[in-house]
Parts: sequence; structure tokens; C-alpha cells
Amino acid sequence: MKPGLMLCLLFVASASAATAEDLTTKMIMALDVNPGAVAFWAGGNDPADGESAFATEARWAAALKGAQTMQAKGKLLQSPGIARDGPWSTFAEMMVQISAEGEAAARARNAEKAFEIGGRLYDSCNGCHKTYVPRVPAN
Ligand code: HEC
Repeated sequence: MKPGLMLCLLFVASASAATAEDLTTKMIMALDVNPGAVAFWAGGNDPADGESAFATEARWAAALKGAQTMQAKGKLLQSPGIARDGPWSTFAEMMVQISAEGEAAARARNAEKAFEIGGRLYDSCNGCHKTYVPRVPAN
């Protein structure tokens, strides 16, 4: 079984109380947005010691693809049936716009710029999560 499908089935199995809307967002996050962001952030981070030219190339290619994925999924998050009331679409659009800047930085292999953009990208994730993801209080 493909890992993606496996993950979907696990979510369905564990989500008896969740709505379809929650599940869609959860899967977009787990399968696309989060891996895309992790790949993009790796573009702006220091390379591993002795990274080969080939590995550097692969890291930037993944960062570029991640930035493209986040733009596509940020648009998807704003579509009817997925978008929610409140600042939801503002945060989703922030992710789209910042990722577009990120795509340009990844194309230019500009690590300093990618790092700076990566910080702002995190603000879009965090803004939406702080507003919409219920947290269990620590005790
Ligand atoms: C427009 C709102 C929004 C934006 C922007 C957003 N998220 Fe999320 N994210 C959510 C919501 C809502 C959930 C909770 C989904 C659920 O469990 O029902 C979530 C859950 C997650 C999860 C947990 C998924 C799981 O397996 O349960 C991860 C990881 C995540 N987001 C990463 C990110 C990253 C990284 C970014 C930014 C690059 C981001 N998100 C941007 C709304 C958003």
C-alpha cells in the first residue's frame, strides 16, 4: 500500500469525532504543506558538513518544489468547503504569497533570502494554528 493512502486510512480510523472539513485540512497539512515547508526550510539552512554538489542541487530542487506545493495548497485551503470563517483565508493567502517569494529565492539558490522568507512562512503556519487548532492545556 502507498504510504499516503495508509496515512489517510489511519486518519479516517482515528477521526470518529472529526468533521470531513477537519480531515481534509489534516491531510493537506500532513501530506503536502508540512513536507513542503520542511523541504523549503532546508534550502535556507546550513548544509550538512561536506555536502556534495549533487546533494546541494537536490536540496534546492526539493525546496523549490516545496514552495510550489505550498502555493497550490494555500489556494486549495481557500476553496469553498475547506475555508473557514475568520482570518483563515488571510493566513492561507499569506502562505501562498510568501511561498511565491520562496520559489524565487530557491530558483536563485539564495540561502540568506530563503532563511528570511522561511521565518515569515512560519508566521503564516503559526497564525492559523493559533487561531484554529485547539490545544490541550498543559498541566
Ligand atoms: C489556513 C490555515 C492553516 C495554515 C496557513 C497552516 N495550517 Fe497547518 N493546520 C491547520 C489546521 C486547522 C490543522 C489541524 C487539522 C486537524 O487536525 O483537524 C493543521 C495541522 C497541521 C499539522 C498537523 C497535521 C496532523 O498530522 O495532524 C501540521 C504538521 C501542520 N499543520 C503544518 C503546517 C505548516 C508547516 C504550515 C505552514 C507552512 C501550516 N501548517 C499552515 C491550518 C493551517
